[in-house]
Amino acid sequence: MPRVTFLPDGNSIEVPPGTTILAAAQKCHAQVGFACGGNCACSTCHVYVRQGFDSLPATEEDEEDILDRAFDVQPVSRLGCQAKVGDRDLVCEITPESRQAWFDEHPEAR
Ligand code: FES
Repeated sequence: MPRVTFLPDGNSIEVPPGTTILAAAQKCHAQVGFACGGNCACSTCHVYVRQGFDSLPATEEDEEDILDRAFDVQPVSRLGCQAKVGDRDLVCEITPESRQAWFDEHPEAR
């Protein structure tokens, strides 16, 4: 199974292909925000896919619309709740926007 690693902390987990990056993050307790509950409506799950980007299914229009509203979008930006793991390992850097959202949702972790 492909392994998904989250930077900067290095949380990592193997997941079946088709698992969303957000679901992988939640399984390994990585600090990826999800203010809208994974419904492609907020951009707080924004990550930079530093390795394995080409193995992800193409971005769909809904995801692009939300990414347009995200901060500091890069060519390797994806929404964690929409991008599904393919057949290769991924390294995902959690964006500052996403980490901030995670801490807003988990004030006890500050
Ligand atoms: S969790 Fe809101 S867009 Fe992904």
